Amino acid sequence: MAIFVSDNPEATKKFGEQYAGKLRAGDVVILNGDMGAGKTVFAKGVAAGLGIGDEILSPTYAYMNDYYGKLYHFDCYRLSCGEQAEALGLCDYFYAGGVCLVEWAENISSVLPKNCKTVTIRKTGENQREIIYE
Ligand SMILES: Nc1ncnc2c1ncn2[C@@H]1O[C@H](COP(=O)(O)OP(=O)(O)OP(=O)(O)O)[C@@H](O)[C@H]1O
Ligand SMILES: [Mg+2]
Repeated sequence: MAIFVSDNPEATKKFGEQYAGKLRAGDVVILNGDMGAGKTVFAKGVAAGLGIGDEILSPTYAYMNDYYGKLYHFDCYRLSCGEQAEALGLCDYFYAGGVCLVEWAENISSVLPKNCKTVTIRKTGENQREIIYE
């Protein structure tokens, strides 16, 4: 486990970009952290690191955004249980071969694959974050 201290959103994004270099297709990464911690900012960096040029928007209303089958960005904030994710067909994407980034994964913990990686972002100041990763 290691900790990266970020002093601004750009540093978090840069860190996500570097972190992407350690990922393999099919990896599922749980992004932990409170509202406004910086999970989506980190996801923007990962997308850039994977060579995805699109603007990454929070998928809150869509539950999951699919970037070319290369990256699946989930926001499970509005899901209440794993069965709901299952019923929506969201779980298949965990096994579809792209990198999965999952915000609010705790809401669907019963259907998460085994061996997920975890990144936890803690707000330690107005613009400071601790990013805890494996
Ligand atoms: N060091 C930092 N790293 C990341 N974000 C930061 C940092 N400092 C300030 N911020 C701000 O914190 C906010 C993080 O928002 P973001 O949407 O990434 O949070 P989130 O964890 O995805 O929240 P939610 O659970 O609501 O989806 C942004 O407004 C960003 O500008
Ligand atoms: Mg978010």
